[in-house]
This record gives sequence, C-alpha cells and structure tokens, in this order.
Amino acid sequence: MIEKPLEFSKGFFFVREWLVQIQVNVTDVSENPAANTDLTGRNIISIRDLNRAEVELILREAERFEEQLGHGGRLRTLAGSVLATLFFEASTRTRLSFESAMHRLGGAVISTPDGRHTSSAVKGETIADTIRIITGYADVIVQRHPAIGSAREAAHYAQPAGVPVINAGDGAGEHPTQALLDLYTIRKERGALDGLNVTLVGDLKHGRTVHSLLQALCLWDVNITLVSPDSLRMPFETVAELTANGTHIEETSNLEEAAVNADIVYMTRIQKERFTHTEEYETLKDSFIIDAAFMRRHPNVTLLHPLPRVDEITPDVDDFENAAYFRQAQNGLYVRMAALALVLGEHA
Ligand code: NCD
Repeated sequence: MIEKPLEFSKGFFFVREWLVQIQVNVTDVSENPAANTDLTGRNIISIRDLNRAEVELILREAERFEEQLGHGGRLRTLAGSVLATLFFEASTRTRLSFESAMHRLGGAVISTPDGRHTSSAVKGETIADTIRIITGYADVIVQRHPAIGSAREAAHYAQPAGVPVINAGDGAGEHPTQALLDLYTIRKERGALDGLNVTLVGDLKHGRTVHSLLQALCLWDVNITLVSPDSLRMPFETVAELTANGTHIEETSNLEEAAVNADIVYMTRIQKERFTHTEEYETLKDSFIIDAAFMRRHPNVTLLHPLPRVDEITPDVDDFENAAYFRQAQNGLYVRMAALALVLGEHA
C-alpha cells in the first residue's frame, strides 16, 4: 500500500484527468467544510487527510491545552493510554514533543528512538510485522521513516487493530503535525491566517515540512511565494494542483524581493541527507542566509523555521522579537497534545 509518486511520463492526458479529479475532490470538501469533525481513530498521514474544520478543531484544542498547562494544570486526559514512538530517522523536537505531550496528558510512552540500529528492522523485520506487533502494546503510534509512503503503509497494518498512526515525517514526503504547529504559530504571532503573504524559502523539493505547510496554508485565503534555487523547487504537481484550486502562488529565486511584501518568511534547511551527490549539496547549501541586516531591512516579517537550522539563519537573528522559531518549537507541544487527544477520542 505504499503511495507511488505520480508519474508524468504518461503525458498530457494523464495530467489533465488528474487535475480534473483533484478539482472534484476539493469541491467535495469545501461544500461541506464542517463535515465530520470527530477525529477519533483517525490517522494523520498527510495534511490532505484533514479538511479545514478538522484543522481548526486541532488548533482550538491546542489553545485549550496551552491555557490549561499555563494555569499549572496536571492533566489526566489520556491516563491509561500508551503512545509508541517509532523513529527510523534523526529527531529532537518531533519525538520529544510528542513524548512530552503524552506525558503531560497523563499517558505513558514506549519508544524506539533509533529504530535504524535498535529495532528488529536491523534483523530484517518489515514495517508490516513491526507495526502488527506494536498495535498489541500501544493505543497510538507516531512514526518517522526515510521512505515516502511508509506512514501510509504503517497505517494500513495498524488499521485492523484500530490503532491510529501519526506521520512524524516520511522521507521527503510530508510532516503534517509540523504544518499544524506552523499554522498555530502563524495565527498566534499574526492574529489571523487569512490575507497573509507567506514566503517559503529553501529546499522546497525535499523539505517535507514545506510540502505539508503549503497544502495546509491553501485551506486559508493566503498569497504564497516560493523561493528556492531552480533545482530545489516545490514539486510541479503540488503547485499545479493548488494553483488550479485558486491559490495565488509565485515562484522565484530572489529572497530579497520576495521579502518586501512578506508577512511570514518560513526558512528551511537544505536537506543534506536527501542528496545523492555531496558536491551538489555543497554548491546549494548557502543559497539563502538570513542575518541581522536582513531582519533590519524587513522589520515587518515574522521569521519561522521548523529547525534544526544549520547556517541559513545566523545566531544574531535570535534576539529579534519577530524571530519566532523557538516559540514555534514550543507550540509543537500543545498541537501534539491536541492531535494525540483527538485521535484517541478525548478533548481538552
Ligand atoms: C524537520 C524535519 O525533520 O523534517 N524538523 C522537524 O521536524 N522540526 C525539518 C528539517 O529537518 O530540516
């Protein structure tokens, strides 16, 4: 059940039929945006799994959890439930914020933080078998894996046991809970999402956070500018689909120009681990660098980054009030509390 990347070699007719199909699907959702806002038992694999009403529900619940924690609340919302975190790729924020979220909700956590070396995958076990086993031990699974489609595959094998799977990153595919916490942060920092000019910068080809965030933003009325080196552009099919659906998207390689009208600049790391040739990475790694001078030239920009940063934001930017990336990482806790609670049928 691995999702195959779409093939465009089949030519124009295939693309045309596919765009028509997408428009039909999108219309279905927008006609009834409040449909099915119960997330109990649901997987969160792609941001496409959620309509706007469902995304808003998660953001609202996250706000409540933030408020409750702020008041020193000791929550028992998920007492007796167990989360399994299964990570086959490096992570700091995503895994620890999910685990912290579960602990803060009174639940328990079991973990394979370094699945590449310490899980039975080392002995040749398939995702299918690993997942079948974990569903006997946990009520919800959060997985990160280098293969695109691996989270959908995990969800397929967890489904008979009724255990929801949350995708914490499937290679260069998607990272839907990062997009949710990005939306949460943008709304908190700027007061609203509608009407904003949002600029996504960096490795838009391999960056799973921007793949999910772009689709999530298009649930609102936003203008998007995509800034990348030509070889690291956002996949054509994603841009084509969202443009066909009415979102205004511009593509450029000029960050300075794009920043002039931007409300949000969302910086990303050039994804070293996705390159086959190190030389290509070396030529591209310093394509865009945001420093204190940039922040002074663009005082109205709110700067976000999913982190980790390497050299693309210099440390002297951290002191600017509108450099919001550390607050953004903190918001991951509340949003992941909301996601876990909702898929397990609980509320704040
Ligand atoms: C991102 C990821 O893993 O995709 N990190 C994160 O989850 N906050 C971004 C990155 O690694 O560049």
